[in-house]
Amino acid sequence: MDDDRTTALRTRGLTKFYGDQRGIEDLDLQVRTEEVYGFLGPNGAGKTTTIRMLLGLIRSTRGDASILGEPLRFGPVGVRADIGYLPGDLALYERMTGEQLLAYVARLRGGVPPSRYRSLSERLALDLSRRVGDLSRGNRQKVGVVQAFMHWPRLLVLDEPTSGLDPLVQKEFQSLVREAVDFGATVFLSSHVLTEVEQLADRVAIVNDGRLVVVDTVDGLRERATKRVELDFPGTPPADLGSAAGVRSVEVRGVTAVCTVAGPVGSLLALAVAHDVVDVHTHDPDLEDAFLGYVAGASR
Ligand SMILES: Nc1ncnc2c1ncn2[C@@H]1O[C@H](COP(=O)(O)OP(=O)(O)O)[C@@H](O)[C@H]1O
Ligand SMILES: [Mg+2]
Repeated sequence: MDDDRTTALRTRGLTKFYGDQRGIEDLDLQVRTEEVYGFLGPNGAGKTTTIRMLLGLIRSTRGDASILGEPLRFGPVGVRADIGYLPGDLALYERMTGEQLLAYVARLRGGVPPSRYRSLSERLALDLSRRVGDLSRGNRQKVGVVQAFMHWPRLLVLDEPTSGLDPLVQKEFQSLVREAVDFGATVFLSSHVLTEVEQLADRVAIVNDGRLVVVDTVDGLRERATKRVELDFPGTPPADLGSAAGVRSVEVRGVTAVCTVAGPVGSLLALAVAHDVVDVHTHDPDLEDAFLGYVAGASR
């Protein structure tokens, strides 16, 4: 593949079928170095399938990928020292304490100093003296986050990382991601909730039903998302508002026309002014709606 140092992760036609069941099909992604890349889609979209292939944990049906310049390989060597991986279905040694578990992983990773995983744990308010098997879901997830970040990996692959974390801990998690990127890491972050990635991601790929729907920046998604514009008129709203550029729908409520608009609202406003509009209220695009719109559009 023609990858260079600006590409951290690339897939070409990456496909996984479980028998007849599609996991993910013909996935083409390119993740740039030092980018936070959101991998978004509802449950069952194929996110975990993709991530497991990238890490060599399951075999692809066809297609190709390269990770940090190396070709995709199936097998246990897939867990590499330059990658930090937080699985979606985190399995931990239940009988060890957090400290014992992280010390064990630290040795496997070639000697991460205890001060490193201890300070990460402290930031996430994780009590390392308790046995992993006795921890709540959120606290187990913290153990997963610490083991993924602790060895300063060049690539972080995080499968639904903040599921189960309370909002304060999520904030701290976001600073961990930003710090990692500041130190040159690339972050591939899967989620089924847009709000979880919109504060972090530079770009977002939306997948649904085993297929890539769109790749865009968060700002780009926002621009494409529809806004709501409410127009008040002296009497019954004019009938031709729907002909203005970008207007997707018009609903009349008394003297008010409630319009959904994609892109610039200038054309609609000009028309409204020509009809002596009395008042205008606009509402910011709802990104979550945009995301759901893409997913609904894709499955139609
Ligand atoms: N081991 C498996 N055997 C059969 N089907 C599977 C298996 N794992 C996942 N699938 C199916 O593949 C699709 C994608 O699943 P998954 O990758 O787990 O999605 P996501 O992580 O986005 O929720 C789903 O339809 C799921 O039922
Ligand atoms: Mg999953």
